[in-house]
Amino acid sequence: MFNTNEIREFQQLETPFYYYDLALLKRTLDKYTANLKKYNYHAHYALKANANERILQIIRSYGLGADCVSGNEVALALKSGFDPSMVVYAGVGKSDKEIKMALEGDIFSFNCESVPELEIINSIASSMGKVASVSLRINPDIDAHTHKYISTGRSQDKFGISTWMFQDVIDTIHKCQNLKLVGLHFHVGSQITDMKVFEMLAKRVNEIQRWFFDNGIVIENINLGGGLGIDYENPDKNPVSDFDTYFSIINKGLEVRGGQHIHFEPGRTIVAQCGTLISRVLYVKIGKGKKFAILDAGMNDLIRPALYQAKHKIDNLTSKGRNMRYDVVGPVCESSDRFGKNILLPETKRGDICAIKSAGAYGQVMAMKYNQRDLALEYYSEEL
Ligand code: LLP
Repeated sequence: MFNTNEIREFQQLETPFYYYDLALLKRTLDKYTANLKKYNYHAHYALKANANERILQIIRSYGLGADCVSGNEVALALKSGFDPSMVVYAGVGKSDKEIKMALEGDIFSFNCESVPELEIINSIASSMGKVASVSLRINPDIDAHTHKYISTGRSQDKFGISTWMFQDVIDTIHKCQNLKLVGLHFHVGSQITDMKVFEMLAKRVNEIQRWFFDNGIVIENINLGGGLGIDYENPDKNPVSDFDTYFSIINKGLEVRGGQHIHFEPGRTIVAQCGTLISRVLYVKIGKGKKFAILDAGMNDLIRPALYQAKHKIDNLTSKGRNMRYDVVGPVCESSDRFGKNILLPETKRGDICAIKSAGAYGQVMAMKYNQRDLALEYYSEEL
């Protein structure tokens, strides 16, 4: 919900732009970190969700580490002041240059996804006279019941090491003198709203770590990744995810051995609800049996609806007319440039300001210049 001052400010500004409610970000972090403290868990924020400096600084100030998936993300995390001993680095395709850079940065752990990757990290570390701390990213073969493009833990997905590869992996680690195994890593998907998935994950992690234990391997760190979903339908009613239930499910289900540390990699659940894409209505066009509300924001600003059929709540902030149905679309030359179909909005006209909610995660960071459009700017609540 925006107050009248905010809406007045929005009307003065050039659209489209991202608007971040930093008070909500802090409220979310307060709740999240209270749970970390309660269970003595550690978290590494997934930079890929939103890497704006202002946001990173707030998250860092709450004591979170960083979860990275590219050399540039590792570099950004270190430049932004994240403690290297709290930086983890995953990804199925780490290049030699990226591996070197992360080794120079002395990060906490490479989350490794294959035998050839372990061998390359070992040989680069050896040439640099270093020992790389590695965790094994495991593919636990779990269906996260989310969109197929953001499911990562099923056996057919490209991510992680499957259980049938374990012996091979262990033999490789024993052979590689410049690798030190520090943990196991899991991440089964994103926007997971079915809490049973996390129950299942905890159970699988117990089975898998038992295998390592039975084979004489001590696992010091267990990283359960991110994935907790948010409420895209009712962001005003549920601006903060149900962290209490999530962590209590993990705490109940996971067998933790003496001396073990438990880690998480939240992305969406930290930043999604604090970000909104603010846009102006350019035209209302009559189509066959429908009306189009054509915005000045497009799929290049927020690609989630086009890419994952994601539904972000859309509000018209400036009209008080009676409700009508619109297909809300952008200006980009693609039919998939549509934010919503048959959306109920108060009667909408040129110049109205619309808010596309829950856009703080995987919004601005996935923006592109397609059609040579300008990238949307951002504003923060503390500035306006
Ligand atoms: N850890 C790893 C290894 C990941 O790959 C991801 C996300 C996360 C943590 C954070 O997951 P989260 O807590 O945000 O669910 N662009 C898509 C989401 C892609 C997620 C990629 N990996 C979207 O807009 O829905």
